[in-house]
Amino acid sequence: MEKSKQISILKDLLRMLDNKENVDAGVMYRNPTSAYTCPDLAAKEWQSFFKGHTQLIGLSSDLPKAGSFLTMDDFGVPILATRGKDGQCKAFLNVCRHRGVQVEHEEKGTRSAFSCPFHQWTYSNQGDLIAIPDEHQFGAIDKSCHGLIQLPMEERHGMLWVHPNPKGVLGLDSMLEGLEDELSSWGFEKLVAMGQTTIAKRLNWKLANDTFGETYHFQKLHKNTLGKIAYGDCLNYETIGRNHRFVFPRRNIDTLREKAEADWRLTDGATTLYFLFPNIQFIIGNGAINIVRLYPDPADPNESITKINHFFTKGAIAAAAEIDGHGENVSADTVYESSPNDTGIPSLNGIKEVFNSTIEQEDYVMGETTQRAAETGLLDHVIFGRNEPALHHYHNTFRAALQMPPLEEVGGS
Ligand code: FES
Ligand SMILES: [Fe+2]
Repeated sequence: MEKSKQISILKDLLRMLDNKENVDAGVMYRNPTSAYTCPDLAAKEWQSFFKGHTQLIGLSSDLPKAGSFLTMDDFGVPILATRGKDGQCKAFLNVCRHRGVQVEHEEKGTRSAFSCPFHQWTYSNQGDLIAIPDEHQFGAIDKSCHGLIQLPMEERHGMLWVHPNPKGVLGLDSMLEGLEDELSSWGFEKLVAMGQTTIAKRLNWKLANDTFGETYHFQKLHKNTLGKIAYGDCLNYETIGRNHRFVFPRRNIDTLREKAEADWRLTDGATTLYFLFPNIQFIIGNGAINIVRLYPDPADPNESITKINHFFTKGAIAAAAEIDGHGENVSADTVYESSPNDTGIPSLNGIKEVFNSTIEQEDYVMGETTQRAAETGLLDHVIFGRNEPALHHYHNTFRAALQMPPLEEVGGS
């Protein structure tokens, strides 16, 4: 993000803190609870936003070197992605051309070839079929026509994008609408991948996403966790096409008051969330970037999976190693598992723990009870306040994408 933009956002946050102001959309909306339970809507979403929509499958460091691979199966199509000797990434259907068995079962690793567990047809990491055992008994097959089925894939600004349909169009210009320069400025391609957390809960995927849409609850629900390091009820918010930028101050923003503006960096005093429609949150902290992706359960609108991927800058890893007393040459894994400290710079594990437990044990516990209320059919709607503009935008955007009418305003404000 450009320096001038960082300074203007920080100034805006400080001004709001000083004046006890918050973002104000000037309007409240009713959101029908059927949005969280309706099976017909869920079926449309699955096709429009997941099975038939470009997906983020990771960052560059999820495929760190030649021979790296990763698999994913969260959006209806099993994916195998690889990095070749030429450094280029490719994605395939993780499906054997013999009898359709899943070829690779590990989530991540390094292999030069993939051997199907059923009869060991073997594919190169470029997707070519290179061996058929007992071919003289099986029959002659033109191997050149029976490689893994390739899917559209692009690595852009350190992000790995795949379309789950071989004939699909990635359309990254519209996925990244208005945010491409800004996202590229965070250096995703230089981050180190350090773990993934999966949370399965009984709440609709949009309800899970709603927990990332306001700071109104920080000093209430999160008063003993996130609320200790961040200010609530203070938000700099901007919609950018179907996406948005959401910045809230951390308590250390106050230290910037003593510094010259030219030395201010947004990450020194605030956390930035980018929402990329329809299901991705990039959460940019100081040296730590978490990506949260939300996936519905295609069989049940009341269930969802949250995948959280943790990334750190090399500088944060080195600093944590020093603070935690592991010395310079500590492996990334050791640092990651090291205990939190109270020196003012939380260890990487501390960041991860606060992040995951806040979501799983606080936000989603609330969300599960809302889901139950929605399932009773007795609560017609919930209300999105003037201080919750990200919820307005997100719900109206997904509704527009599915040709649904916009949310209804609540009378009076
Ligand atoms: S199904 Fe893969 S080798 Fe037979
Ligand atoms: Fe929260």
